[in-house]
Amino acid sequence: MKRMSPWLLLVAFIVSVNCFADSTDSAALFKSKCAMCHGSDGTGNTMGQKLGVKSYKSPDIQKQSDADLKNAITNGKGKMPSYKSLTPEQVGGLVKYVRELGK
Ligand code: HEC
Repeated sequence: MKRMSPWLLLVAFIVSVNCFADSTDSAALFKSKCAMCHGSDGTGNTMGQKLGVKSYKSPDIQKQSDADLKNAITNGKGKMPSYKSLTPEQVGGLVKYVRELGK
């Protein structure tokens, strides 16, 4: 068997740890890193809409699993940039925040 890629292990780690994420600083993190495209309310602003963001209230986003959303944030998706420097706790907190904004 080939050796498992360290990235695979990292992704598995991210998926397993996030349940314990503390989301207290997620709002601040979102404002500094994400609101420039997604808007502070998650519906997407002018810049984000040019790139193709959907409102977090859209079923297309809310029907996805936490793991799907974490994957999109960590590894990027389409024109969405990747955020590999965020810790699994931060990504988990952001997913919770995305769910809050989507309500
Ligand atoms: C440069 C603009 C930009 C920034 C900054 C950005 N995003 Fe995105 N994001 C996008 C675009 C564009 C999409 C749509 C991707 C697609 O579906 O093709 C997206 C999609 C998403 C999705 C939905 C993924 C899906 O499957 O449809 C989530 C969740 C998300 N972003 C979270 C975040 C978070 C959290 C941050 C901050 C850490 C962030 N984004 C920062 C542009 C951005």
